[in-house]
Amino acid sequence: MFSSENPSMLRGMDQSPFPYHGPLQPEQVTGREQLALDLAQRITDRRLTALVGPRRYGKTSLLKRVAADLQSVGPQPVWIDLYQMTSMADVAGAVDRGLDCVAGPVRRILDSVAATLSVNIGVLRFQLARSPTRRPDPALSLRTLLTVLVSAAQRHELFIIFDEFSGIANVEGGAGVLRTELQHNFQSFGIVFAGSEPSTMRTLFSEQTQPFFAQADLVEIGPLPDDAVHRIIEDGFADTDRNAGGIARHIVEFAGGHPQRTMQLTDALWRLVEPGETANQENWENALATVRTNVDSGSEHIYSLLPTGQKKTLRAVATGGSIFGAAASMLDLPPGTASDAAEKLLGNGFLQRNPQGLSVVDPLLADWLRRRFPF
Ligand SMILES: Nc1ncnc2c1ncn2[C@@H]1O[C@H](COP(=O)(O)OP(=O)(O)OP(=O)(O)O)[C@@H](O)[C@H]1O
Ligand SMILES: [Mg+2]
Repeated sequence: MFSSENPSMLRGMDQSPFPYHGPLQPEQVTGREQLALDLAQRITDRRLTALVGPRRYGKTSLLKRVAADLQSVGPQPVWIDLYQMTSMADVAGAVDRGLDCVAGPVRRILDSVAATLSVNIGVLRFQLARSPTRRPDPALSLRTLLTVLVSAAQRHELFIIFDEFSGIANVEGGAGVLRTELQHNFQSFGIVFAGSEPSTMRTLFSEQTQPFFAQADLVEIGPLPDDAVHRIIEDGFADTDRNAGGIARHIVEFAGGHPQRTMQLTDALWRLVEPGETANQENWENALATVRTNVDSGSEHIYSLLPTGQKKTLRAVATGGSIFGAAASMLDLPPGTASDAAEKLLGNGFLQRNPQGLSVVDPLLADWLRRRFPF
């Protein structure tokens, strides 16, 4: 029976204000106001932009927010998700899905333009999934869909978000088709590319052979500022009749502004605090223990897949040592190996560079390394 005398039952019904799986709803995105305004302005000004940042730093959430903000005043977003593309048919299917998600008057424009080019939005991706002899040509289909987009943009203000854009790098000729179709038309709509694989994104946006993409400005999404994290935690607790006490500062310190880890730790803490109560030190220690239990085996697994030089370098950085200092020599890490490995780890998103030097992107991986390999 649900009653106010049964707080644990009621607590089970409360929805956590700290979601940490997948993108947030636009209205849940806070602490990124300046970046959101900057991106909206860039889209409005039709400045080609690439939003880059580590995994799970909130790129998709932020762009969903920007898309919703802009859509509320007119321009129509077209969201194209290129996650893990492996073929031209995949890319054409992703564009079809993006167009298929558009509703209302802009959808009618898209459909009427598509009809003049003999394609059916929302159907094409199923046709592309047929066997190669029975399906339309994928590259041609992709070109046609992009032509639909370009033509529709003459009739209604549009902007395109290519999320997980680094996925295009796995598709031979994929970036080339996008470039050919978009490079002469990108003044007619805003485009944002987002991605988290630093070395792939850098290659896509700087290579001499990619003249169109190289025009994009790279905009970084960094950690959440400390004051934003304090606000998110304190407001989420207060809105659900709890008090975060002084525990927010432990989360700020532990997670270093990593958005998803901040939310995961805060969610675990929140689940231990009854309505009407204030979080205490013991709650924090238990929350951290729970999250460690959930995450440690994943950390161990991804660490085990790294080559030895990168393992040692990651350990040296996690324990706060310089990759050329005493920590490195204890690990038998020669300077040449250390700099090569650091470049690789920066490229694959394990490490990031900040004013203090190198740091491990994922605070829970760093924490696991420090516990697993204490000096
Ligand atoms: N502005 C924010 N405030 C608080 N938490 C956030 C914010 N943005 C993202 N998060 C947290 O990070 C998680 C991941 O967000 P999101 O999926 O948008 O990141 P991403 O950078 O697109 O990740 P991926 O690299 O996996 O695509 C969210 O579930 C949420 O917990
Ligand atoms: Mg994302």
